[in-house]
Amino acid sequence: MKETLSAGHPPHPAKSRSTFSGKMGYVLAVAGSAVGLGNIWRFPYLAAKYGGGIFLLVYLILMLTFGYALIISETALGRMTKKSPVGAFHAFGKSFPFQFGGWVNAVIPMLIVPYYCVIGGWVTKYLFEYMTGSVTALADDSCFTDFISSGASVEFWLIVFSAFVIFVILAGVKQGVERVSKIMMPVLVVLAVFVAAYSVTRPGAMEGVKYLLIPNFNNFSWMTVVAAMGQMFYSLSIAMGILYTYGSYIKKDVDIEQSTTQVEIFDTAIAMLAGLMIIPAVFAFSGGDPNTLKAGPSLMFITLPKVFASMGMGRIVGIVFFLLVLFAALTSAISLTETGVSTFEDQLGWSRKKCSLFMGIIIIVLGSASALGFSVLDFISILGMSILDFFDFLTNSIMMPLAALATCFLITRVAGLDAIAKEVELSSAFKRKKIYNFFMKYLAPVCIGIILISSIANVLGWITL
Ligand code: PHE
Repeated sequence: MKETLSAGHPPHPAKSRSTFSGKMGYVLAVAGSAVGLGNIWRFPYLAAKYGGGIFLLVYLILMLTFGYALIISETALGRMTKKSPVGAFHAFGKSFPFQFGGWVNAVIPMLIVPYYCVIGGWVTKYLFEYMTGSVTALADDSCFTDFISSGASVEFWLIVFSAFVIFVILAGVKQGVERVSKIMMPVLVVLAVFVAAYSVTRPGAMEGVKYLLIPNFNNFSWMTVVAAMGQMFYSLSIAMGILYTYGSYIKKDVDIEQSTTQVEIFDTAIAMLAGLMIIPAVFAFSGGDPNTLKAGPSLMFITLPKVFASMGMGRIVGIVFFLLVLFAALTSAISLTETGVSTFEDQLGWSRKKCSLFMGIIIIVLGSASALGFSVLDFISILGMSILDFFDFLTNSIMMPLAALATCFLITRVAGLDAIAKEVELSSAFKRKKIYNFFMKYLAPVCIGIILISSIANVLGWITL
């Protein structure tokens, strides 16, 4: 079987699998999936919370080693088997480890998309407020807390956002969305540069730039590593089946190594820009108050409105900014939902419509739990976390390391490192092959093991990270 696979003939060739038009199409599609709320909303708040420069350093090291190896692995496995994760694992065996490996990869997007839509709803609400409400009122500290603790309003915006996602999936206008995102993404970059430039030139903001860029080892804790790894998975769309699926759509002549590098550079550049928009603003407006720095998920919704209120044309900038974030969130939410829908289609044999509606129900049920976790359901605390934080933690710190471990296992124990090398070499020389092999064989399993154990121990209160 190994022979057949590495020669590029899948055991169960798909009848008519769509392919990307070429390398450019593939890089844009992966970058489009990678750039989303993870970069603009999640990266800055984690960097602020877990030590600034030291978080960034750990993130970069992990991304260039671990992330790089995993992107190559998932893409190559997808291209080799021409299958999404469940099918890719099944191509090698049907026993429990293969079932588990495939399904854990496939279930993660289904658990992420509901809370992703909750945040998407918050973004939609802010866009609406910038269009109709008062810019100064939005900059008020209590504005955000009042909003998320008003259950009905959060629920309403969750429904608005997810209805749109399901509508697009049902209508199958993915083509359109992809075409529009090619225009919107560059606009987002230009706007982000503009807001970041404004933010870093505020009085007192330089301290924030230093906090983000200069590593301070006193701020290091194990949690920095755990959070940085979760963020790397999340932001690069690793360990959630998506790269298997995308890999299965690319032709044999696409240079996997080079496109991986390009996606990593693009994704990190956007995250850094978002960090530069938000963190210096925290210092400018609150003098780097540790409580503000540790604000967590709400950071973007509390700090940026202050920046916008203090600048001329704040309303316009607010509208354009939240419109673009909304767009980045929508394209990512659509691709997350699409992954779930296609898993259901492949594995349950249901019609596309039925699968989409089923995903819609999952989003509304699990999403409502996360949405209402700050109001009516705020008495529920799972392992000390709100429901939204719990889903984020469960997927990023527990399930994704397990999914990554399954991929390492599949490659080192079953498919063989040579099979991956052969697949990559179909299109180009595999320049970092030695590092890749070393990483997959030794470092990755050890790192993942340590991270998994420490995040579980932390939650159970055995250790404080
Ligand atoms: N990477 C996306 C982000 O940063 C999230 C995502 C993951 C989107 C997987 C699609 C698929 O927001």
